[in-house]
Amino acid sequence: MNPIYLDHAATTPVHPDVLEAMLPFYTAFFGNPSSTHSFGRGTRTALNRFRDSTAKLLACPPSQLIFTSGGTESNNMAIFGIVNADKVGKKHIITTQIEHHAVLHPCERLESLGYEVTYLPVDPTGLIQIEDVEAAIRPDTALISMMYVNNEVGTIQPIEQVGQLARSRQIPFHVDAVQALGKLSLNLDTLPVDLMSLSAHKIYGPKGVGALYISKNMMVSPHVYGGSQERKRRAGTENVAGIAGFAKAVEIFLPMMEQMQPKVVELRQIMISVLEQQLGLESFTINGHKEQSIPHILNISFPGISTETLLMNLDLEGVAAASGSACTSGSLETSHVLKAMKLPENVTASAVRFSFGMGNSIEQIETTAQKLAAIVKRLRKI
Ligand SMILES: Cc1ncc(COP(=O)(O)O)c(C=O)c1O
Repeated sequence: MNPIYLDHAATTPVHPDVLEAMLPFYTAFFGNPSSTHSFGRGTRTALNRFRDSTAKLLACPPSQLIFTSGGTESNNMAIFGIVNADKVGKKHIITTQIEHHAVLHPCERLESLGYEVTYLPVDPTGLIQIEDVEAAIRPDTALISMMYVNNEVGTIQPIEQVGQLARSRQIPFHVDAVQALGKLSLNLDTLPVDLMSLSAHKIYGPKGVGALYISKNMMVSPHVYGGSQERKRRAGTENVAGIAGFAKAVEIFLPMMEQMQPKVVELRQIMISVLEQQLGLESFTINGHKEQSIPHILNISFPGISTETLLMNLDLEGVAAASGSACTSGSLETSHVLKAMKLPENVTASAVRFSFGMGNSIEQIETTAQKLAAIVKRLRKI
């Protein structure tokens, strides 16, 4: 039985071309990019090239892109970097209730240090309301931090609108775009965004590498101190091989985005229609927004059957899916995202996330849907 991987929102396999682009930086080009000799200069030149090509595809100047260890570090760097750079004592942050923990936990840390954080609510589709953002703004608001695409349900937030509002009030605006990269066009030249977090491993790049975009004139304090790398904004010898892989993944997958979209839409449709045929429309619910969402993430609930049971049975059948929620001491917590969407308890307790990727075929999706329908029928009988 060949396992079927439907957890691309968690991570993706490294593409062979990406791996190939990385390998020379473990062998021939091992020099430290900060070294002044020829070994170092060779690596430095390559690093500059990777920054240039990545920046070009994101439509931003290369100097405004800082390579990091991934989405988590980029989010931390943005949030702590902005509040620590603030000179007038602004102590308020606006974010949403459905952010990734890489935003929520830094915000909680700031609360413990005396900051106030407004966690904006979302509607039952996972969307924030622009009026709520407006109402939350205070004279001492130091930052608005919001995700572009939610990692559990795929809902897309109105980033342009929020960005325009933030600009009109001169509040720095950070966007966690980890799940948006490769799915939505990210034109940093036109998007009203001051900071944007990106990660390589969601787009067939390596784990442990990503970037933070920082717009011109935005003051961000460094969060690690040491050498002068990344224009003194992020100390530490650069992960050159990782950056090579990230740049390659961006180079391959950003231009392919539109081409991929219809295929993913088809996979999603097939999954839903097989489930509909097998189980009937009323026996499951799809969580998230109908239109304002990416097709790559399909979050479905099967009321009456627990998420854990569904995932375990799928795993036994060779299908890797996920719940958005964290697993602590062997049992799943209810997802904070679905809770914030105020979905009924039987929906939040039975949600499973399927996330599609490049390697998935129609046959795999049909097989998964058939297996899933059989599992649901069997468990409902019990
Ligand atoms: C929305 C979002 N933000 C941040 C992260 C963290 O990124 P990384 O795994 O690169 O640290 C993830 C990872 O799942 C994510 O989905």
